Amino acid sequence: MDKIVALCKRRGFIFQSSEIYGGLNGAWDYGPLGVELKRNLKDYWWRCMTQVRDDIVGFDGSILMNAAVWKASGHVDTFSDPLVECLITKKRYRADQIEPQSGIAYYYKGITTTRTPAAIDLPFAVLVPKGKPEASAQKTARQFYTARGYAEAEIVSLELEKSEPVENSTKFNPENGSLLSEPRTFNLMFKTYVGPVEDASSVTYLRPETAQAMFVQFKNVLEVSRKKLPFGIAQIGKAFRNEINPRNFTFRSREFEQMEVEFFVKPDTGFEWLEKWKEDRLAWYEAIGIPRSKIHVLTVPDADRAFYSKGTYDLEYEFPFGIQELEGIAYRTDYDLTQHQKASGKPLEYFDEETKSKYIPHVVEPSAGVDRTVLAVLCEAFAEETVKDEESGKEETRVVLRFAPRLAPVKAGIFPLLKNKPELVAQAKEIVKALQPLMKVAYDEAGSIGKRYRRIDEEGTPFGITVDFETLEGAKEASTSAMGTPIAAGQKGTVTLRHRDSMKQERIAIADLFAYLLAKIA
Ligand code: GAP
Repeated sequence: MDKIVALCKRRGFIFQSSEIYGGLNGAWDYGPLGVELKRNLKDYWWRCMTQVRDDIVGFDGSILMNAAVWKASGHVDTFSDPLVECLITKKRYRADQIEPQSGIAYYYKGITTTRTPAAIDLPFAVLVPKGKPEASAQKTARQFYTARGYAEAEIVSLELEKSEPVENSTKFNPENGSLLSEPRTFNLMFKTYVGPVEDASSVTYLRPETAQAMFVQFKNVLEVSRKKLPFGIAQIGKAFRNEINPRNFTFRSREFEQMEVEFFVKPDTGFEWLEKWKEDRLAWYEAIGIPRSKIHVLTVPDADRAFYSKGTYDLEYEFPFGIQELEGIAYRTDYDLTQHQKASGKPLEYFDEETKSKYIPHVVEPSAGVDRTVLAVLCEAFAEETVKDEESGKEETRVVLRFAPRLAPVKAGIFPLLKNKPELVAQAKEIVKALQPLMKVAYDEAGSIGKRYRRIDEEGTPFGITVDFETLEGAKEASTSAMGTPIAAGQKGTVTLRHRDSMKQERIAIADLFAYLLAKIA
């Protein structure tokens, strides 16, 4: 993971937010290559949802909504995580993510000090691994008491109440053995105020999921799109959660993007659609270069499912830091529409022409994280391998990002063989100009061809196009590509096309280049 994080910074995929001020935990910036990768990912999802199928329409809701939405959806009352705090460092953790610890727990009643009164009642406990002396527990306990204003020199003794073995306890901080506070619920929504007056009536929240806008606009979208069930609404947008412990690079952030579909179905077809969506989404991940073998389908157990869901699959990816969720596919029943109908007093029912009946549709929701998917794509693409240099034949390490061409930030690197030969440079630049309206390409004339290939390998560019003397030999006459686009001043010559993954090279007519590249990146 460290290598991937370093590469992301070195090559301009992802930077820490506000880096020059020491950063902001849980927020990330996408650099020039990262933004292209992320945009390609979102575009592909959008195309798959709203363009190649005709049962889903697009939507773009606002981030700020009437606070009543969040009350009705249940977020104000229940969108929380259990929070615990280390009694020494004050660091906060999600109680359900504390690794269970075993060892000997020492319970202290308090301390005797040189102050008056001498005995201070202030209970504290420390867990130390079995076999370690009590002295190490005492050291930690002293930190607790000194953190509460007692100077080390004035602590005469620690008053031990008892010690006992404990197994798999989540009451102690795995980082230092200190007792943790009792869990309290912590609402994850970012609260803000709308307008100049900061009072209870102006409170709202940055949306913690994009879904709710699609529920509250269900009726409007249904009417204007003239769809019948089953039909869906798709949206990509920012969501905000004040996560207790952002971690694993961009995996758990406080500001992130979601790609969500609310798919409205007849009530008795919910489970059927849940299965269909699971298969559809698995195929989608394969199409962006994440093999089926790396995706784990978790049937979320009853106890762990959101209260509104009758069935949920989590699609999980084998990240270097463990198998973790990429996307949740939840059968949300009629919960959300029913809640909003009740709270707003506005009918959100659907009139079924076939059965001449009115009902609240049920919803299946595939909800994917953009940033998590970008991270999975980066992890999947990253490879370090020993190869022979393409010019010198010497062995060297090559770092390569094997992005699926449709996601690659830059589709082709275009190089004149020599930068001091104006004809080669002019021809390469003509190819650049001809390709630019259709895809992102990069011109590079610095360094040996081998070095330029290495650079584009690290950026994940799938194709290298080199203009050499053979290119110039091609007859100069007007020509158009298979797409009918004029090509590079009508060059009939050929270029070297180098493939990133196999490092194989072939010659291809400039006239065929457009159609070839377009087919590969679609
Ligand atoms: N509307 C349903 C919903 O929001 P979720 O499982 O809480 O469900 C859906 O979130 C997806 O959003 C997750 O599978 C994950 O990819 C992404 N996501 C959630 N919290 C995130 C966070 N703190 N950082 C990055 N991505 C997150």
